[in-house]
Amino acid sequence: MHNAAFAALGLNWRYLAFEVEPKNLRAAIEGAKKMGIIGLNLTVPHKLLAMKMMDALDDSAKTWGAVNTIKFENGRARGFNTDAHGLEISLREDLGLKLRGAKVLLLGAGGAGKSIALKLASEKVAELFLVNRTPSKAAELATEIKKRLPSVRVTAGYPKNAIGLLINATSLGMKPDDDSPLDQKQFSLKQTRAVYDIIYRPAGTKLLAAAKSVGCKTANGLGMLLHQGAKAFEIWTGEPAPLDVMRRALENNK
Ligand code: ATR
Repeated sequence: MHNAAFAALGLNWRYLAFEVEPKNLRAAIEGAKKMGIIGLNLTVPHKLLAMKMMDALDDSAKTWGAVNTIKFENGRARGFNTDAHGLEISLREDLGLKLRGAKVLLLGAGGAGKSIALKLASEKVAELFLVNRTPSKAAELATEIKKRLPSVRVTAGYPKNAIGLLINATSLGMKPDDDSPLDQKQFSLKQTRAVYDIIYRPAGTKLLAAAKSVGCKTANGLGMLLHQGAKAFEIWTGEPAPLDVMRRALENNK
């Protein structure tokens, strides 16, 4: 997606993927800074860890509580968050959903989950339910949201009644033999109208397949990937992102 966009703008830049152990994240960021690299994206499990490793945080990272994009400026690392923006556009484009007034169940309270929860709360969803494998993290996130956005109704735990949207923001589903992140004894997919899985590879997860089979509207995270990437591209280059080029590159590499 990024390499296609760089080519479209005639930039002699390359986007490369590196696997970095969490214990080496600080060294990797410092190394990239010293090598004169323009910027970085961070993914699972680095988005929360990186908050403490930045020289400066953009408002987006402060507001959404996690860093997925870094820009190096004059030897300083500035952290941004483009995930919340990507999700909002994708929910609208891919599910035709407006967040205001919706009842939403969010699975996952890691880096991606936290940004999404804060975004949902700031868009004035009617009610937000937070569930996480480690329940204390969902409870902590609920407390933080109540403090920052007191008018939003937030519950740590599964909803008892029907909702409009379920979002998976855990990493469960990225590996082919992963289970579904949803405990269907606690909440039935028949109780939600739509399901969004932020995972895009594989394109179909067990959760999405189960949701489709009971008639939910579904979308995977490809649209969020596209729009968070387009925003990161604009941060690094200062140019508008060639969205069609990026979308085509993603669709050709599914
Ligand atoms: P990211 O920055 O991409 O969100 P993360 O902060 O490591 O990555 O968060 C990963 C999320 O997936 C967390 O919600 C994690 O649950 P825990 O907080 O309990 O670790 C969730 N997750 C990862 N593996 C999981 C598994 N096998 N079952 C359920 N949830 C899992």
